[in-house]
Amino acid sequence: MKILIVYGSTTGNTAGIAEALAERIGNAGHDVTLLNAADASAEGLCNGYDAALFGCSAWGTDEVEMQDDFNTLFENFDAIGASGKKAACFASGDSSFEHFCGAVDVIENRLSGLGAVIMEEGLKVDGDYSGNKDDVDAWCDRIIEDL
Ligand SMILES: Cc1cc2nc3c(=O)[nH]c(=O)nc-3n(C[C@H](O)[C@H](O)[C@H](O)COP(=O)(O)O)c2cc1C
Repeated sequence: MKILIVYGSTTGNTAGIAEALAERIGNAGHDVTLLNAADASAEGLCNGYDAALFGCSAWGTDEVEMQDDFNTLFENFDAIGASGKKAACFASGDSSFEHFCGAVDVIENRLSGLGAVIMEEGLKVDGDYSGNKDDVDAWCDRIIEDL
């Protein structure tokens, strides 16, 4: 299957998770495209893919603010062609913040509203991939089963 992974990441933590997911899904025999949100445009983003994974860190204090590059993409998210697509969300965050990995919930809700089929509850990682390999890999394996 053709899988799209799009991520927005400022310090590289969500990017590291995205790379690990891409490698594992690729090793399972799927054709994976990994895209930094800074290089993505919303129009028809999901076209030609069987499933899409979206990763985005949160940077607000009182309320959820999405990572800058992903936020730009999100402004035109209606145009990505999400209807009927399998999708799931992930992020690195810091559990000391009130809205731990809050962007995951925001994006997931928007995807549902656009008619996407959410494969799994979003993956929320406290810190980076290296400290959470087992959780990330287990989530990834469930996604692979859902494809
Ligand atoms: C000003 C500020 C606000 C933040 N807000 C949140 C937040 O609301 N929720 C959260 O889980 N993490 C929050 N974080 C932590 C970052 O999201 C976290 O360091 C994350 O790993 C960054 O991922 P990235 O490198 O992929 O951008 C915040 C960090 C800063 C400095």
